[in-house]
Amino acid sequence: MTAERSPVVRRVVAGLVAAAVVVPLVLLWQTSRAPGRFSVTETGAFERGSGPRTATLEGHAGHGGGNAATATSVDALVAPTGPADVALTLTARAERVELAPGVTTDAYTVNGTTPGPTVRAVQGDLVEVTFVNESVPGGATLHWHGMDVPNAADGVAGVTQDAVSVGGSHTYRFVADDAGTYWYHSHQVSHEQVRKGLLGAVVVAPADDAPTAGGPEVARLLDDAVDVPALVHRYGARRTVQGTTGDLPVAVPPGTAARVRVINTDNGVLPVWVGGAGFRLLAVDGTDVHDPPEVRDRAVVVPAGGRADLLVVAPADGAAARVELGGSSAVVVGPDGATSSPTRRPTATLDLLTYGTPAPLGLDPAAPDRSFDYVIGRAPGFLDGKPGMHWTVNGHTYPDVPMFEVARGDVVRMRIDNRSGTPHPMHLHGHHVVVLSRDGVAASGSPWWTDSLEVADGEVYDVAFVADNPGIWMDHCHNLPHATEGLVAHLMYTGVTTPYLLGHDSGNVPE
Ligand code: C2O
Ligand code: CU
Repeated sequence: MTAERSPVVRRVVAGLVAAAVVVPLVLLWQTSRAPGRFSVTETGAFERGSGPRTATLEGHAGHGGGNAATATSVDALVAPTGPADVALTLTARAERVELAPGVTTDAYTVNGTTPGPTVRAVQGDLVEVTFVNESVPGGATLHWHGMDVPNAADGVAGVTQDAVSVGGSHTYRFVADDAGTYWYHSHQVSHEQVRKGLLGAVVVAPADDAPTAGGPEVARLLDDAVDVPALVHRYGARRTVQGTTGDLPVAVPPGTAARVRVINTDNGVLPVWVGGAGFRLLAVDGTDVHDPPEVRDRAVVVPAGGRADLLVVAPADGAAARVELGGSSAVVVGPDGATSSPTRRPTATLDLLTYGTPAPLGLDPAAPDRSFDYVIGRAPGFLDGKPGMHWTVNGHTYPDVPMFEVARGDVVRMRIDNRSGTPHPMHLHGHHVVVLSRDGVAASGSPWWTDSLEVADGEVYDVAFVADNPGIWMDHCHNLPHATEGLVAHLMYTGVTTPYLLGHDSGNVPE
């Protein structure tokens, strides 16, 4: 053979080379396109983890979640029947709202305001919410962020219900088992609907006989403390607390305490600190901290979706204490008319890994029934036909992301390992996880139970939970644009199925 190639041969070779590049790309592009309608249980990459109980899942049907005879539909995973202790109707609308005099914006309201009304219950109450979508285009739902509700009430469009279209309604029923601070928001096109204000606070007061984890001093302060929900939300560039810009005054006499329930409904972290007084961090994500010591000059960094309850005592000298919310709003606790001026964010951060004192976890993380990895990465490829750098979970891109399969009663360990170059606030529905370690350093303070955990780039968290709430549960990033970009996985219980569908033609877009 001669080294000289004819022009024809050269063209053929060039064509073959081009085809060798283009054909796999086209295949990749094609296979990345999500089907028009699909079930979450049929697309994911099933993972059974490692551990002694993985074998018990063998023989179950995997994809589809079990054979028809033994399957349980998400629709059957409901609260007990019977009369509700708290019953209300929440009606969502698209309308213009006024954020400050003369400043209006297009928003979604609940019962005419954004945030919507605070839903209040006492621990143990059966809550029944009738949700009406009056005018939110494309449908809407209500998800009870941080509340371990029965799966049928979880409000995820395409997983636990269909989005409620304009003119429709849907009833949510759940028992408010755990006292604490939570919030509700739409889980249909949530990156847009949450941003535009389809949300509100939930406060569950402890039952009368419930012991406090804070100790006698905290119990005494809480006895006459004022309860202050402080839902923080940005509308465009304006940060608001309870729907208004600027400071939120809370008039109390010197020496009186306020329990400020900070709720971060935005996509980034919210640093919170107190100027003019010390504070205690009473609760994180709805769970009391055990023996919270008083601290000063520390910022509490609240992840997207997370909550922090701060106990602040109005100073004895008649001045006001300022609970600073990111530096542009504050809850001002002190006598009527007391003045205060903004303070700077302290350089030190309160580390939940060491804050408070240990207490029993109620599970043995050293003997898990099942262990999973949740490795967050970023890789070039196609996502639903779109080329780019995309989030990966254990190497997969959406919708081919893990379905972490568990059985009821499992003690589950999960290692969240963020190698994506960006921080992610990770949120598991229907369960609270306890932090065991961060970057190999064991937790040594109060049990740190969380549902919204900030995982910085390069960090590795080991967490554990008990699989005690059957269903199909999202486990996703609460920087909601990241969820639309595919940073979503699911925890699913063996044998649970869903009749609801996702995909372009389904009308359901939970992210
Ligand atoms: Cu705040 Cu999946 O939700
Ligand atoms: Cu993220």
